[in-house]
Amino acid sequence: MEYFLIPGRHPELSAAELWAVAERDHLGAELRETAGAIFISTDRELPAELPSWLGGMVKFGKIIGEVSEHELTGWLADRVVESGGRDFGISIYHGGSAARFKNLGLEVKRVLRERGIKSRWVSSREPTLSAVVVQKNGLIRTGIEFCLFADGQRISVGQTTDVQAFEEFSFRDYGRPRRDIRSGMLPVKLARMLINLSRTPRNGILLDPFCGSGTIVTEAAILGFRQVIGGDLEKRAVEDTAENVGWTSRNLDISKTSVRILQSPAEEIDRALENTKVDGIATEPYLGPPLRGRERPADIEKIVRELSILYVKSFAAIRNVLTPGAAVAAVFPVFRSGNRELPLPVLEDLKKLGFLPAPLLPPGLDVKMTARGSLIYQRPDQRVLREVFLFKTSSLDNTLKKG
Ligand SMILES: C[S@@+](CC[C@H](N)C(=O)[O-])C[C@H]1O[C@@H](n2cnc3c(N)ncnc32)[C@H](O)[C@@H]1O
Repeated sequence: MEYFLIPGRHPELSAAELWAVAERDHLGAELRETAGAIFISTDRELPAELPSWLGGMVKFGKIIGEVSEHELTGWLADRVVESGGRDFGISIYHGGSAARFKNLGLEVKRVLRERGIKSRWVSSREPTLSAVVVQKNGLIRTGIEFCLFADGQRISVGQTTDVQAFEEFSFRDYGRPRRDIRSGMLPVKLARMLINLSRTPRNGILLDPFCGSGTIVTEAAILGFRQVIGGDLEKRAVEDTAENVGWTSRNLDISKTSVRILQSPAEEIDRALENTKVDGIATEPYLGPPLRGRERPADIEKIVRELSILYVKSFAAIRNVLTPGAAVAAVFPVFRSGNRELPLPVLEDLKKLGFLPAPLLPPGLDVKMTARGSLIYQRPDQRVLREVFLFKTSSLDNTLKKG
């Protein structure tokens, strides 16, 4: 069976998230990437819930045929008839070939008309239909959307089966009662991706030691982890998280998950957790004070130094609470100063603590990572970039103690 998934604005991270879930749930899937789509080959059905788990993918579907170009129009018309609907859409997912299929929709419509069938072609100015257009035009339930992946003469045709629940994500992004605008809002989709990247098993315990307003905590509860623990230095953040979790529980069933919120510096989270060990960590730690853009290089360098200390101390503490094999998915800030980009220079220290950056993507997938083994998450106009890491733990050198 072959499936396709279309990533959103951060294709590399989305692919990394998919790979993480495939590994965690032993989906036995092989990933392949072409022209902005990720293909999965498996010998069994993928879980029907997969689309609802992922933060990074916007469209999902199955490959339903391989067709040559001269058969294509008639073949698509047959599928529209079979779908029982009259509405259809076509998205072209191969760079360069959009013009080649410019009239395809009209031709399919014409063929259908010749057969006495009145149809509606849902089109847009772009070569591809957005998830929103697909959803709003009912192309999944009452119509059909074809996704074309043209590679040479043969054309793989996919049928969209799901789109991302974009309305639900945006409801949670903007509807939750407590939003921490000052310390930078963590987008819900990125929170999801971090949780999934951590590969924490569903029946395990997930920790976010810098929980802020609890975006990761609530998303993890929605995903149904056995237990989710959030920690934060600030009393207000603890209250915000509690309020947001309460709000989520009134909108969605999160009763499977027990949520624990602790007020503690991340540097001492091992003490606060007492004997509890966790099966994975997903976190966006403190990214520094809000920047105005007028900071001098020396100011930025000072922030980098201070954050580096915080991160190393926090990792020393979380090292003590991880079960063997547990991983950490974390965002690190990258600062812009003039033309320079300043990441946190902490990888050597983290290595000494037993944390090694692990590959975020499977070998063979042609996707760019940074020289540090991370992926960058960037939104326009951001002064601080987000560098996403996955750390796996190696056995700890006994002589190293928390410092
Ligand atoms: C970027 S926010 C985290 C966003 C959060 N992940 C969310 O989902 O909303 C960073 C948080 O780190 C907290 N913080 C700062 N220093 C800390 C420390 N030493 N230990 C624990 N939390 C800290 C801040 O209070 C703030 O709430």
